[in-house]
Amino acid sequence: MTPPPSDAPPAAVELRGITKRFPGTLANDAVDLTVRRGEIHALMGENGAGKSTLMSVLYGMERPDAGSIRIDGREVSFADPGAAMAAGLGMVHQSFKLFDSLTVAENVVYAAEPRRFGLVDRSAARRRVRELAEVHGLAVDPDARVGELPVGLRQRVEILKLLHRGARTLILDEPTAVLTPAEADALFAVLKSLAAEGRTVILVTHKLREVLEGSDRVTVLRDGRVVARLRTAGTTADEIAAAMTGRAVELDRVHAPGTPADVVLGVRGLTTDAVREVELTVRAGEIVGIAGVAGNGQSELVEALAGLRPTAAGQVTLRGEDITHASATERRARGLAYVPEDRHAVGTAPAASVADNLAMGHHRTSLSSRGLLSAAAVRAHALGLVERFGIKAATPEVPASALSGGNLQKLLIGRELAHEAPLLLVEQPTRGVDIGAVQNIHDQLIAYRDAGHAVLLVSAELSEIRGLADRVLVMYEGRVTATYPKDEADERTLGLAMAGAAAPAEVGD
Ligand SMILES: Nc1ncnc2c1ncn2[C@@H]1O[C@H](COP(=O)(O)OP(=O)(O)OP(=O)(O)O)[C@@H](O)[C@H]1O
Ligand SMILES: [Mg+2]
Repeated sequence: MTPPPSDAPPAAVELRGITKRFPGTLANDAVDLTVRRGEIHALMGENGAGKSTLMSVLYGMERPDAGSIRIDGREVSFADPGAAMAAGLGMVHQSFKLFDSLTVAENVVYAAEPRRFGLVDRSAARRRVRELAEVHGLAVDPDARVGELPVGLRQRVEILKLLHRGARTLILDEPTAVLTPAEADALFAVLKSLAAEGRTVILVTHKLREVLEGSDRVTVLRDGRVVARLRTAGTTADEIAAAMTGRAVELDRVHAPGTPADVVLGVRGLTTDAVREVELTVRAGEIVGIAGVAGNGQSELVEALAGLRPTAAGQVTLRGEDITHASATERRARGLAYVPEDRHAVGTAPAASVADNLAMGHHRTSLSSRGLLSAAAVRAHALGLVERFGIKAATPEVPASALSGGNLQKLLIGRELAHEAPLLLVEQPTRGVDIGAVQNIHDQLIAYRDAGHAVLLVSAELSEIRGLADRVLVMYEGRVTATYPKDEADERTLGLAMAGAAAPAEVGD
């Protein structure tokens, strides 16, 4: 590496030869990354390629085994994130670290409060938030309670918090995974204006469209190494995808329609705290998709169907049996599998091994005899699913907490599909997984359907719903307001219905 000419400004971030090993895994292998001041730099790579690890090293959360870090030309060594913050770095984690019961202003200034006579100056704090919000186009009410804000606004609060602490370089690890398309667009507008002010953004994402529209340059990691450095204006989705995977990836594959048979799931007039009089059926050999802007009752509907949320009125049947008041466990026993939206809180046990996580819920199956799991069967079951879903783990014995985000998602999908349950409820099946794994999960869901199972799919990705679902329902304000067969479910029609424009006459199916 030749040093830059002396009149060029030093890079905002310069990583040289960063190596980081975990037991059984070389997560970063002599990684060089240069991020220029004022650019939006995308970091891409398959699940487990080492992106989050590299950002943790940069942010002082992990100590590298080798390598050096320069910030604005100065060599640094961070003992902890506090030291990284003092050097002008700020990181927004995928799971936000805010206090729900505090206001926006209190969160923004937390641990860095403006003071007057030794006391926290609350009005100065609110002024500061208004000021920052105005300067950076991050409108949010300083007096709102954070717990009551939608996720897109919470993310704004995280960004304001970093700006309040003087961050000149912002690191965002998969910031749009949990955002609606409109929230993601708003985020990119903010990031662009921050970059135009001379701040620097490092963005980890799996979404090619965002990278192509929103970044200046792209660095691609594969198996812990840099395999491509690209200028966004001079590259294509295919080129990035090929760099990530080392092969050509067929983006947006078209699937043949299903052949619906008997009704598996019947829902009549289902009402909960957040769902109103929902009517729907899902047949064997059919995928029914639920589209909607986040927060219109989709998750609550699925939770109610899974038995995790009380039903106020209505009836639910599974293969003709009434399960309206059955517990979650009883529903599973009668043939329901469930992939929840939150893979951390409800989906998996972080301290348990990958193999044990994959065996969960399989206690009454071939993995056990007389209620006891057989270690050899558990291991064989795990190895099969690791292979089928491409779960990257050093061994099936490592704890689930050692998996990268996308690999944990693959684990969850694999475990639930392995039940071969007549009904699968699946939310956000490809959240956080790389483009190759998206194709694999889609193929697996189609194969599951074609094996005669019923699938109810909730996704924030319209393209996913349109690609997979044989029928699409739209939810708006807790109700199913429209139903479309696959060939009528175009982007525009769905978009209008999601915004509440569907005629009431279209209700039902
Ligand atoms: N604490 C840990 N202990 C053991 N292995 C780990 C740990 N953290 C990460 N790894 C391993 O290091 C590799 C890189 O993981 P990392 O989280 O950096 O991937 P990533 O590129 O961010 O993937 P994703 O897109 O899925 O988030 C993976 O193989 C992962 O299993
Ligand atoms: Mg990651």
